[in-house]
Amino acid sequence: MRTIKWKDGVVTTIDQTLLPDDEVWIEMRNCNEVAEAIKEMKIRGAPLIGAAVAYGLALTAYHSKAKNRSDFLKELKRSAEILRKTRPTAVNLFWALDRILRKVVNAEGDLEALKIMVIEEAKQIADEDVAANRMIGKHGSNLISDGDTILTHCNAGRLATVDYGTALAVIRAAWEEGKRIKVIATETRPKLQGARLTAYELMRDGIPVTLITDNMVGYVMFKGLVNKVIVGADRIVQDAVINKVGTYTIAVLAYEHSIPFYVAAPSSTFDLNSSSKDVIIEERSPKEVTHIRSVRIAPPNINVMNPAFDITPIKYVDAIIYEGGILTKEDFKKMLKSP
Ligand code: MRU
Repeated sequence: MRTIKWKDGVVTTIDQTLLPDDEVWIEMRNCNEVAEAIKEMKIRGAPLIGAAVAYGLALTAYHSKAKNRSDFLKELKRSAEILRKTRPTAVNLFWALDRILRKVVNAEGDLEALKIMVIEEAKQIADEDVAANRMIGKHGSNLISDGDTILTHCNAGRLATVDYGTALAVIRAAWEEGKRIKVIATETRPKLQGARLTAYELMRDGIPVTLITDNMVGYVMFKGLVNKVIVGADRIVQDAVINKVGTYTIAVLAYEHSIPFYVAAPSSTFDLNSSSKDVIIEERSPKEVTHIRSVRIAPPNINVMNPAFDITPIKYVDAIIYEGGILTKEDFKKMLKSP
């Protein structure tokens, strides 16, 4: 089941803020509506954000009243600027916008042909995401053994992608191959993607999942209750993996307990010309920390920090699973050196 769909100038997706209680599909008819849905995290997860902004440009193209190429390109670039300002960390967002703009700016053809090109490229980005995730599952399941208990953080599942997931693709593929595995999902404060989304997704697929709070990771590792970790990524740079805040803590604990720590992500999440110091870590509203859903749990006016992501040095990553295969640390370093 795809999490984002295009039909005749309307984009539909599940409002993820309402899960797990209600599965409500929302309709978006212009790029502003897509931008708002991303800011409010109705749409979230790096690959899904990439597909959503691509469809945002497709909406602009489909409904454009521009009379010539130059006006059309201006309109498209204005939409891209609106979409660029939604969330700063997941590189898939910038990758998708730049890919479409580059293609259209360099293309020949009349106005109608350019509009169709934008829409087709957006569909292609969504299709490629599904294909990449299937390959991630296929490669990654080789790392999983019958009887494994795998810890995952946040939601790197179908809901974070167009379909099938990244970290959860590996888990799904291993399960589909008949491996009897179990999953431990961290709740993922403050937005609770693990408790709300990963738990929901895996239970729907019948994959055994146990929910823990984020601060229980040390305990379950110390007790030998976990033997692998797989997480997704928002951006993979030369020296680090940027992912949901809490990932770094899990990686260091995994290292200390000699538990393999794997990152699963499509190549659209790679930003190999940058290093961690170049990345903007999104700082979100203090209310996400002082409140759980709409209930306040901290004193009014308390100072708050709310970085949405953290930085895990490559040292802690045993392998990166992408659509091209499995990269060990050494493979990854070689990839950085190759032109
Ligand atoms: O803030 P979110 O929910 O968009 O963050 C999502 C994550 O950090 C995921 O792990 C990442 O995007 C990979 S999803 C396949």
